[in-house]
Amino acid sequence: MNIDLILTQMPLEDKARLICGRSPFSVGGIKAGEYEIPVLYMQDGGTGINYEQFFQDRRGDETDGFTPAECFRVVRLFYRTDELTAHEKILREKISLKLNELKGHIKSAPGCYPPGILLGATWDPGVVYEVSKALGMEAKAYNTGVLLGTPNCNLLRDPRNGRFFEGYSEDPVLTKTLAPQMCRGVEDEGVASNAKHFACNNLEINRVGIDEKIPARALEELYLPAFEECAKVTSTFMSAYVSINGTRCTENKEFLTDILRDRWGFDGMVVTDWGACIGKAGDSLAAGNDLFMPGPWDHKDIIDAVRDGRVSEERLDEACRRILTLIEKFADVKLPEDFTDEEYVAKGRKAAYDAASEGIVMLINKDGLFPLAQGSKTVFFGVSRGAFRDFGTGSAQVFTDRSSNMAEELRKIPGFEDVAFDDIEAYKTGATAVVIETLESSEGADRADLKLSKDTRTILDKLIKERGMGRICLILNTPGPVELGSYKDELDGLFAVFYPGMEGGHAMADIMCGKANPSGHLPVTFPERLEDIPSFLCYPDSFSCVYGEGIYAGYRGYQKRKIRPMFPFGYGLSYSDFEIEGMETAVAEGKVNCSVTVKNTSGRSGKVTLQIYSHKVSADVPRAENALCGFGKFLLEAGEIRTFDVVFDIDELKYYDADRKAFLLEEGAYEIKCGFDCEDIRVSSVIRIDEGSEELKCGISWPCGKIAQYPELESALKADVEARGEDFGLYLSNCIYMPFMPVSETYPDASSFENFIAACSGFVHE
Ligand code: BGC
Repeated sequence: MNIDLILTQMPLEDKARLICGRSPFSVGGIKAGEYEIPVLYMQDGGTGINYEQFFQDRRGDETDGFTPAECFRVVRLFYRTDELTAHEKILREKISLKLNELKGHIKSAPGCYPPGILLGATWDPGVVYEVSKALGMEAKAYNTGVLLGTPNCNLLRDPRNGRFFEGYSEDPVLTKTLAPQMCRGVEDEGVASNAKHFACNNLEINRVGIDEKIPARALEELYLPAFEECAKVTSTFMSAYVSINGTRCTENKEFLTDILRDRWGFDGMVVTDWGACIGKAGDSLAAGNDLFMPGPWDHKDIIDAVRDGRVSEERLDEACRRILTLIEKFADVKLPEDFTDEEYVAKGRKAAYDAASEGIVMLINKDGLFPLAQGSKTVFFGVSRGAFRDFGTGSAQVFTDRSSNMAEELRKIPGFEDVAFDDIEAYKTGATAVVIETLESSEGADRADLKLSKDTRTILDKLIKERGMGRICLILNTPGPVELGSYKDELDGLFAVFYPGMEGGHAMADIMCGKANPSGHLPVTFPERLEDIPSFLCYPDSFSCVYGEGIYAGYRGYQKRKIRPMFPFGYGLSYSDFEIEGMETAVAEGKVNCSVTVKNTSGRSGKVTLQIYSHKVSADVPRAENALCGFGKFLLEAGEIRTFDVVFDIDELKYYDADRKAFLLEEGAYEIKCGFDCEDIRVSSVIRIDEGSEELKCGISWPCGKIAQYPELESALKADVEARGEDFGLYLSNCIYMPFMPVSETYPDASSFENFIAACSGFVHE
């Protein structure tokens, strides 16, 4: 494709049509004059391929004669044919033939993979990468060039968020380490990944049009870092529905151009979220948005905007060029002919299994109930009968016939075949009751509360009442945290599987019987009560949402307010026991190296996740008590003792200064802590940063309130001020009424204060 030639030959109208998409999930396909632009398909793909979108976009006349409701049911129940009527089965047959024609040689159902929250719980970039490669393979099997939502980078700020499960973590370092791996694997497979939703689609209520008031410091420290890392890898970004500080993300030049392009150097394509351009398309194009979806979007305003000078034709050409480049690279993605169906199934299964078994978090294991003893009897209670909801709903849904059922998987394991359903007598005489709590969640609506469902509460009440010798294990197949209240103390076992993907039942059965050793850790805090979450009072009651907790989202907010959560960020149990024997820290070449010696004191090999947190000693600005700055997940054989290095960048110690619009490094002491979660800190050591940021150097730019903390600086200042016959009372008054006022603004000729400047140059920060 000769893009330069195409652009010179394309009339304005065609360029405007190109950037407004072709169909709900495709772009291109324009034939005019001498050029013929191929069609590029895009689809949601963070957890696999969604038939609803695939078929909606590529169908022919198969659905003629069927109502939209029938079509919807047939696609949803595609692999549950016994629930279809005879008439619907006819449509299913037609769709099936069409799918086979479109899909090429892979005939198996699409794979379904765990969403961001479970991937976040793996704390393992390698596992995320393998899932991402598998998703790239799925995209190729379905000739889909752009896989939307690989990843969803939005931070897990408030567990009420209907899309909570799609994101990776409440912590920026964990998110920015894992989420780009999702781009990397997809891109390595030759498919375009997509980082969404830029930025801060952190709740679903009023998501189109809501104005989020976010302090600059929180934006920079918490919400943008994962996007910045993804910008280095991905081919596409998606602009979000929401507005930030008064400007819609789809029209936000500060975000789409100043930050994304000029500061981060992103040269890929930006597509709107579907229907997110609720203002004028021309203004959105001018701000830096390239493609408008779903297609065909109304392109009239693009033409008007070029004609009336709201946007230049060069900017339109730039958007077209980015889209054409994407089409050229990714329109024709497919699996090689010799890649067999068996390979497709095996690769997907392995990636999904590894993610589930590394990500499932064991939260309670009373008296070592798990792994279950050989010959144990298990009784499943409730309607799920061992089945999990593998995926969240909304754009993250995937229908497949490859889901694993935990009860069936347990039955296949020698020594654990004794599996029953609703057998209360067996439970009372010592069997382990398994209750799967499945809570649905979807984009478009938030969870009203974090309560367990009524059905689950009824079952638990009954089991508690009739306990006898029985043991109770609750499995949280939920989009995020739930409140457990007094149930917590009644449970012998508790696991969070979130939505574990098609291999979740298999992985969970292996964990229960000990074939696999749990190693997942919570990527989010589980609160005791909804009221404890840092953003509790900030839930919007209008089209405005204030991020009042600022930089104290997630565990930062619990620790600052000294509120103990039910399970802290980073928590997770193992069948192995680990002890940290010591840590040495060294600072060199912009990095902090933490050498941690760990011992597996148990008789079982297992994986330990070393979490490194930093704490600024005597900080001049408000800071989190502990902030994750690095981590590593390592395997230790039974009884093994080893030293592992966890290295992180000194930049992780910086804070964002909203006045100076820069990340700054305070000099002085930092406590570096290593533990198994953000509360369970086992060792710490202090490092010194001698050279902080120039802007923070001790001198006349220091605020009066800060000088007051250091008597030697204050008396030097007093001597200079009084020697000049100026009023020292000005300083004293600022210390009380305007402590942030710099000395230089209190005394305009402060740059020549000899005593003060000499005292500052000899000043050593604590
Ligand atoms: C969602 C996006 C999704 C798009 C296309 C929107 O409703 O917010 O995450 O990628 O639809 O399905």
